[in-house]
Amino acid sequence: MQTKIIQGHELTEAQIDFMNNQRLTEYGENTKDFKKNERESVFFFLVEADSTKAFGLLKPVGITYADKSYRVLGIANIIAVEKGKGYGKVLMQVIKNYLTSQNMSGIGFCDATVCEFYAKCGYQIIDGLSTRFQYIHGQREKLDAERGVIYFDGGDALISKLLENDDLISTDVPLW
Ligand SMILES: CC(C)(COP(=O)(O)OP(=O)(O)OC[C@H]1O[C@@H](n2cnc3c(N)ncnc32)[C@H](O)[C@@H]1OP(=O)(O)O)[C@@H](O)C(=O)NCCC(=O)NCCS
Repeated sequence: MQTKIIQGHELTEAQIDFMNNQRLTEYGENTKDFKKNERESVFFFLVEADSTKAFGLLKPVGITYADKSYRVLGIANIIAVEKGKGYGKVLMQVIKNYLTSQNMSGIGFCDATVCEFYAKCGYQIIDGLSTRFQYIHGQREKLDAERGVIYFDGGDALISKLLENDDLISTDVPLW
């Protein structure tokens, strides 16, 4: 098994098409524009015998909270093409290694039904955090319903700061 780590602005058309198609198959729609909105993101492809088995991304996000600014990597676009064969878990281990190498924390949002998967991959599930995130750009984007927040501490212990009080957490990009 091989891992390819690729900067968003270096993705090939074929890689973008592949992810678009997988998202359509998975969700019936694709809300991501990889070409336009993910140029700064880092993509992870797990490849075996020339075929991609799982992929995901980390997106640089600036957050402001209690008058302080922090950098975090947003975990998103996690899909195992073939499910139940351990590919998702290997991918999440590769992403943990990357976060540790960058000394940065990873944060993502997920449906309650998938939280267990991330927990099995060694990520923390943080309750009550998702509705504290907001993105203001003309109008305010906020998650209406509570979602699971998955977290991995890559060394900066960001979560202990975010849990100091219940203030809103502003992001400089739309919620990923
Ligand atoms: C979620 C997903 C990435 C998991 O990938 P996968 O390759 O099927 O998972 P793995 O085979 O590596 O499973 C790892 C462990 O998690 C468990 N697991 C996998 N999917 C799970 C789920 N949906 N709920 C609970 N546990 C799950 C497995 O049983 C396994 O447990 P074990 O380590 O005790 O054996 C995959 O199902 C997927 O692509 N789903 C659709 C897209 C999606 O929902 N992505 C997440 C967006 S937040």
